Amino acid sequence: MTPIDTNVRIGELKQGIDQVVENPIGLALDKTRQVVRALNADLASEYVLYHQYKKHHWLVEGAEYWQIHKLLDEHAGQVLTYADMLAERITALSGVPISGPAEQERDAYI
Ligand SMILES: [Fe+2]
Repeated sequence: MTPIDTNVRIGELKQGIDQVVENPIGLALDKTRQVVRALNADLASEYVLYHQYKKHHWLVEGAEYWQIHKLLDEHAGQVLTYADMLAERITALSGVPISGPAEQERDAYI
């Protein structure tokens, strides 16, 4: 039996969630930090919204169950598309997108 090497890492993120570095558009670092924080709050909120849509998608009941069930799932899918756009914008600005549930809960405004 071959032992599993638990020290292998595909990549290590050395940049903290609140750190920014020089970016391709030359935006000043203090302004970049403000924009990245705001976009990360939007990103965190999109994920909270996604989970709320899915929860209600699963729990909806009643005569119009099927239409509402499908509509909530469509909205959940759209929210993920927006979340991806926000995360990619954050990355383009040299920031780190929030991705963990604890960070999302902490930074979401909804
Ligand atoms: Fe579903």
